[in-house]
Amino acid sequence: MSPTSTPDSTASAELAAPYGAGAAGRTGTPGGIPATAAKVRTHHLLAAKAAGKKFAMLTAYDQYTAQIFDEAGIEVLLVGDSASNNVLGNETSLPITLDEMIIFSRAVTAGAKRALVVADLPFGSYEQSPAQAIASSVRLMKEGLVHAVKMEGGAYYAPTVRALTQAGVPVMAHIGFTPQSEHMLGGYRVQGRGEMAQIMIDDAVALAEAGAFCVLMEMVPADTASAVDAAVTVPTVGIGAGNSTTGQVLVWQDMAGLRTGKMAKFVKQYAQMRTVLADAAREFGDEVRTGVFPGPEHTF
Ligand code: KIV
Repeated sequence: MSPTSTPDSTASAELAAPYGAGAAGRTGTPGGIPATAAKVRTHHLLAAKAAGKKFAMLTAYDQYTAQIFDEAGIEVLLVGDSASNNVLGNETSLPITLDEMIIFSRAVTAGAKRALVVADLPFGSYEQSPAQAIASSVRLMKEGLVHAVKMEGGAYYAPTVRALTQAGVPVMAHIGFTPQSEHMLGGYRVQGRGEMAQIMIDDAVALAEAGAFCVLMEMVPADTASAVDAAVTVPTVGIGAGNSTTGQVLVWQDMAGLRTGKMAKFVKQYAQMRTVLADAAREFGDEVRTGVFPGPEHTF
C-alpha cells in the first residue's frame, strides 16, 4: 500500500475523537496535526507538510518520558539507537542490539497513547538484505509495538525501503550525518555541503519514491536541507538541518538538560533537568543523614 494514500478507514473517526484519559496537561498541537486526533498517523505528517505546518519529534526510551512527551503534544516519539550512548553508557550508537531496542520500544509504546512511535533499526540489523530488514522490523513492530521504523542510509537502501513498505512497515529514512556510519564518515561532520548537496537530494528522492513516509536529515546545511525538502512531497525532519524541514527532532536528554558536556550547535536546552535531579538527590541524602526523612507522615 502506498504510504501516500490514507488507508486508515478509522482516520475520520479518530480525527473527531477526543484524546481521552491522560489529556490533562497536554497542550495540543498548534501545528498541522489536529489536536483532536486520537493517534498521530503517517498520513497526518504528510498532511502537515502539504498544509505548510510543522510537527515535533523527541527521542524517548522509557514509559515516563514517553507519557510526558505524549501528553505535551509531541507528535512523534523516536526510540533512537541513541539509547546506546544516552541510556546504556556506550560511546556510540553502534553497540546497541535489536533485543535492547525492542525492550526500549516496548517501554515507550506502553507510555505513549497518541504519538506515532518510530524505532531505529540498529546497526547490523538491516544492512545484509531486505529480508533481514523485514525480519528486524517485524520484531520491532510485533514485540516492541512500534508503528514505524527508521533506517539510516541513502539511495542504496531504496530496494530495502520498498520491500519494507510492501511488507507493511512504514519507513522513516535517515540521511545526512548517519551516526551508525561514524567511522566511515570520519566522525561527527556536517554532510551535504557544496556539490554533495545533489547527492543528498537524489538520496531523498530515491528513498521517498521507494515508499519512505518521511526523510530525516541530520547535520546538513540549511540550504541543502531546504532543497531536499522541496524535492520530495513527503515530510522532512531535521536535526541540525535548519528551519525549513516539516519537523524537528532532538534527543530528549539534550533538550531537557539532563546531559552535560559539550552540546552540538543544533541543541537548544529547554530545561536544566540535571540540576533539578541533583538538587533533589542532595536534599534526600541530607535528610536521610540527619534523620529528617522518613518523618511520621511517611511511617506506618
Ligand atoms: O537515534 C537518534 O536519536 C537519532 C536522532 C539523532 C535523529 O537518530
